[in-house]
Amino acid sequence: MKILIVGGAGYIGSHVAREFLDAGHAVTVYDNLSTGTVENIFPGEEFVEGDILDYPALRGAMAKGFDALVHLAAAKAAGESMLKPEKYSLQNLNGTVNILNAALETGIRKLVFSSSAATYGEPRYLPIDEKHPTEPENYYGFTKLEIERILAWYDRLKGLRYAALRYFNAAGYDPQGRVRGLEKNPANLIPVIMEVAAGMRPDFQVFGTDYPTPDGTGVRDYVHVSDLASGHLAALEWITRNDRSLVVNLGSGQGLSVLEILEAARRISGKPIPAKMVGRRAGDPARLYASAALARELLGWETRHSDVESLVRTTWDAYRARTH
Ligand code: WQD
Repeated sequence: MKILIVGGAGYIGSHVAREFLDAGHAVTVYDNLSTGTVENIFPGEEFVEGDILDYPALRGAMAKGFDALVHLAAAKAAGESMLKPEKYSLQNLNGTVNILNAALETGIRKLVFSSSAATYGEPRYLPIDEKHPTEPENYYGFTKLEIERILAWYDRLKGLRYAALRYFNAAGYDPQGRVRGLEKNPANLIPVIMEVAAGMRPDFQVFGTDYPTPDGTGVRDYVHVSDLASGHLAALEWITRNDRSLVVNLGSGQGLSVLEILEAARRISGKPIPAKMVGRRAGDPARLYASAALARELLGWETRHSDVESLVRTTWDAYRARTH
């Protein structure tokens, strides 16, 4: 199929593009390179540099004719969204409405959307399944949930079939080392730790050591980007086969603590990785991890790289390559 990947030059987008290319699809990437990098454009891909807020350019790119669209172009820093909601309204809400309207204008009726576990908010029970209440605690999560609501209306009124994939904590890098671009100014735990290991920052802070968890630090569900990517492929195949929409978690189903990640990073990199133990970060729940039962049941999706060893080793391989 001819696939347009909006945001396909970014960290997750480039891994998704890689997966679709490996599956034999024709991939075009539309990206404004604000956080993505041209290093992540693969041979054999078409690339259109453009902004999702530039409706004529977006529509022009889509008019080339595509069988499906994958949308991963969004601002994604939960903390920043609480300081700059206007940026998240513009990029995530206006930008996505542009994408949906241009898709309808150009005959695209299948869409895979990058949603987030942030739509759930504070866990009421664990593991979190798709029936869990959706009460986002940050504006970023709110925008993702609002987009899911718009998608449901576009399905009902215009027959736009979508798969909204609620990612948990995306991490890792392509095990074959084919994704070269490092995230710019990462805030997430694993890239932050790897920047310390690679000498790109002096140390990092552990946000809270008094949580009700086995070692007192926060527990999250880290899912490898290559596993996320295979989930996108399986989801598109499912909505194509069933002519129906889908909302599903993509998580490993396992929880890992900050200290477990730090220990693995020190062991694998052989670097000291200095860490400062500080107070909790506002809004952080103690534990958050997914039930991936629905993705397994409907999509036959299984994680293959989301163990702590692969998550940390593939990330260190990417950072080490860039610093030596
Ligand atoms: C992970 C753990 C921190 C940094 C966020 C978004 C979520 C999703 C994934 C997009 C927590 C601890 C972190 C650091 C630390 N984004 N930590 N020191 O907050 O679970 O989720 O990214 O979909 O929407 O909210 O990810 O990587 O920031 O934190 O101790 O320097 O690491 O307290 O326990 P989070 P994170």
